[in-house]
Amino acid sequence: MLKKLAVLTSGGDAPGMNAAIRAVVRIAASRKVEVLGVKRGFRGLLHNEMVHLGVRDVGNIIQLGGTILRSSRCKEFFEREHRRRAAQVLNEREIGGLIIIGGDGSFRGAKEFSEDWNGRLVGIPGTIDNDIYGSDFTIGFHTAVDTALDAIDKVRDTADAHDRYFFIEVMGRHSGWIGLYAGIAGGAQETLIPEETQTVEEAYQRLLEGKKRGRKSSIMVMSEGCSGDGAVAIAKRFEEQTGNDCRAVVLGHIQRGGRPVASDRVLATQLGAYATELIIDGSSGIFVGNHKGALCHYPFEHSWEKKKPVDEYLLKLQEALAG
Ligand code: F6P
Repeated sequence: MLKKLAVLTSGGDAPGMNAAIRAVVRIAASRKVEVLGVKRGFRGLLHNEMVHLGVRDVGNIIQLGGTILRSSRCKEFFEREHRRRAAQVLNEREIGGLIIIGGDGSFRGAKEFSEDWNGRLVGIPGTIDNDIYGSDFTIGFHTAVDTALDAIDKVRDTADAHDRYFFIEVMGRHSGWIGLYAGIAGGAQETLIPEETQTVEEAYQRLLEGKKRGRKSSIMVMSEGCSGDGAVAIAKRFEEQTGNDCRAVVLGHIQRGGRPVASDRVLATQLGAYATELIIDGSSGIFVGNHKGALCHYPFEHSWEKKKPVDEYLLKLQEALAG
């Protein structure tokens, strides 16, 4: 019987992680299981940095961005000797299960850890990138889109005032979900994402076609991973090639912060609770998700072996809607 479990947040933080931690702690308490919070992701495991988390310790955090446990990208954890040390730490503290809130890199670390530790491991998808196969959405995605959208709406005002072209770069090194959603919701003329086959030159052509139709200003939303160049270089080249007045805006890490929107809090609560029930009932080697309204779970390896496609219909719509 599981008596004690640990929870950590790993990789890029995402709004809603705190809501997930809260759900883990409170559901575990309802099942009489003690919870320890590991500080700074897998790094905290290596350094034995943990705090006891009781039901009152996670009060007043559901609305907070970031993660009260803090996070890290811990390269050492991919080396066996460090993982063995982490296993020793968990065993010494008599912890029987570990819940990992993070993205596919963190789930990969968890899978490797399963070779070195006998306890139960369950993942919760927390990343603004929404790139985890099997779950329609990941914790933090909707908040990141809203943050990007707020900026796009503001840029639109000044683009319109000056008849300018704006190239707005959003996060997503390998995933275009934020770009696609922010582009659709922000009414962008063009959206460039890593999953798309359209080249930057083709996008330029389409911007110019818009001008012929009478557009005076334009917004192009692009994911950071959509081409080798960032928004600054792409804007500069378009200005040089066409003589149009261009500006670039790189939204960067502001997309990772801020209070989580309601849908992220609800998703985080659902997934946090579900992961906790599963780990207490004996599951291991899996991550949880929500697909078409139903809770589900998959082996860790699905998160990196299977690529989650972007919404094709939205992608086509985006092109059709460019005025
Ligand atoms: O959290 C995911 C992500 O935001 C990616 O979209 C982005 O490329 C990356 O993290 C940035 O990571 P870091 O903060 O480590 O530079």
